This record gives sequence, structure tokens and C-alpha cells, in this order.
Amino acid sequence: MTDAGTRYLAAKKSVDDRALNRQVLEELCRMMPARAPRVLEVGAGLGTMVARLFEWGVVRRGEYTLLDVDSRLLRDSRTWLRTWAAARGLRVDTLPDGLRLGELTVRLVEAELGEYLDTGHGEPAHVLIANAFLDLVDVPAVLPGLFRLLVPGGVYWFTINYDGESVFQPDHRHDDLVMRAYHRHMDTRVRYGRTAGESRTGRHLFHQLRAAGAPPLSSGSSDWVVHAGRHGTYPDDEAHFLDTILRTVRDAARDLVDPAPLAEWLAARRRQLADGELLYVAHQLDFAGRRR
Ligand SMILES: C[S@@+](CC[C@H](N)C(=O)[O-])C[C@H]1O[C@@H](n2cnc3c(N)ncnc32)[C@H](O)[C@@H]1O
Repeated sequence: MTDAGTRYLAAKKSVDDRALNRQVLEELCRMMPARAPRVLEVGAGLGTMVARLFEWGVVRRGEYTLLDVDSRLLRDSRTWLRTWAAARGLRVDTLPDGLRLGELTVRLVEAELGEYLDTGHGEPAHVLIANAFLDLVDVPAVLPGLFRLLVPGGVYWFTINYDGESVFQPDHRHDDLVMRAYHRHMDTRVRYGRTAGESRTGRHLFHQLRAAGAPPLSSGSSDWVVHAGRHGTYPDDEAHFLDTILRTVRDAARDLVDPAPLAEWLAARRRQLADGELLYVAHQLDFAGRRR
């Protein structure tokens, strides 16, 4: 599994593990159906969330569908989940459209969300999950369709929604310039022929959920906070996670900022990363609730 997207999402797991808001998670656990649930996760990537919810004892039975537009990621998810399960002595069976982890069936569905909502689908889910995803789509446009994927009274857990603030420390004279461009890029992005997210998704989602008749029953921050430990090394693969974040910022900003200040900013951040001096914080929000 050498694909850049795969390694980034695998590296992101330990960052998300720390960040996910525990009170919102408790609310999800309270609302989780007692019987084996049907769970749908949109923009699921590699499937690290199903592994996490299994590890945390939240979902261990039933059916869990990973929906993603990226066929490579879904292919890699089979390998990643197998390796993850083997490390825990968990039985894995291969299925034509996914795999079985103990008593949990994991199905892999390759689809672009907008097309999936337009074209119809199978039985509605009891639980709908989106992690680090809603800031990549046009939320007001997709929310009604997303809720139709849930049974009436079904539960949603929308987590790691970016909310307009990235902090890199120590301060750099070009931080504001680069961050303004980074956010402008998010606010004007088009993917798969559709508007693709915005830089203040987290704060706007609160009222968008209310307007859709599904007010949050629990909400809280889920900021990413990443820094090196005592010996100057970043935990797990988090140096790679940070390197990818820096590339993402560069790619977003490069059409909007003069090359010289961007190059100076990037070189300084890369030096700090190599020296274990870089602190990164991204402000994000989590929400859980029920559809009507
Ligand atoms: C930031 S990643 C998050 C992945 C996973 N939820 C996680 O937290 O590890 C966003 C994911 O959404 C997928 N994605 C982006 N736009 C999509 C769309 N319009 N329809 C379906 N999947 C999409 C990408 O392929 C990617 O796997």
C-alpha cells in the first residue's frame, strides 16, 4: 500500500483518534440501535473508522457499508482492514463485495455521493457517518438526500468538519497570506462537476442540520493537534500526515499567492517538521443527532 492517499489516511487515524469529541461519541453510543445495525459511511476512504468503532466497542455486529468515489482507496481498504484484523487475532472472511470481520459484514461501494443520491440505493441505514468528508461537498445540496439514506429516526454522526482555522507554530510572517489563499481555494473548489465544500463547514453545519429537520443533539470540537514528543519525533506516521498537510496547503495556495512567499513559508515549515518543531492545529466540529 504505497499510494499517497492510502498512506495519508492511514497516518490520519491516530490524529483522528485523539481528536474525535468524546461527548459527541457518547451520544452516538446512547443512540446506537441495540440490534445489529446497518451503518453507512460516506466518503469512507480506507475504512479506518470501521476499525476504530470496532476497537472502541461501538459497532461489532451488523452491516457497515464504506462508500467512496476512489476505487484505489476501496481496494486498499481490503488489505488495510485485513492487516488491522490480523494484528488483533480477528477472523476475516473475504466476500465478493467486501469482507467479514468477526460478526460484522463490511461492504465496499464505489460511488460519487451526488450520483449515488440521484440514482437510488438499497435499504436505508440505521446510522449514517461522515468523517472528514462534509467539508468536501456542498452540504445544503446533499443534506436532504443524505437523510433519505436513513430510516426515520435514524442516527447521524458527522465528525471532523473543518471550521476555518489552521494554526502552524512558530509564527511565520506569511501565515495570513497563505491561509487566506488556502481558504479561498476551499471556498471555490469544484470536484466531480459540483461545488466541493467550504472553509467554514463546521460552524455552518449546525444551522444547516436544524434547517434539514435534524438538529444536533450533541456537538463539540474535534481539533487536530499534532506535535513531536519529548525526543523530537512525531508519533506513529504523523510526520507523514503533516507533510501531506503542507503539500495540500501548497497545492491549494499556489495559484493564488506569489511563488516567492509561498516557497519561503513552505521551506520554513518543512525545516520545522524535520527538526520536530512544527505544531499544527486545525479547528473542527463534530455533531450527532437523529433525522425526523
Ligand atoms: C479526507 S478523506 C476522509 C476519508 C475517511 N472518512 C477518513 O476520515 O479517513 C475524504 C474522502 O472522501 C472521498 N470523496 C471526496 N469527494 C467525494 C464524493 N463526492 N463522493 C464520494 N466520495 C468522495 C475521497 O475519495 C476520500 O476518500
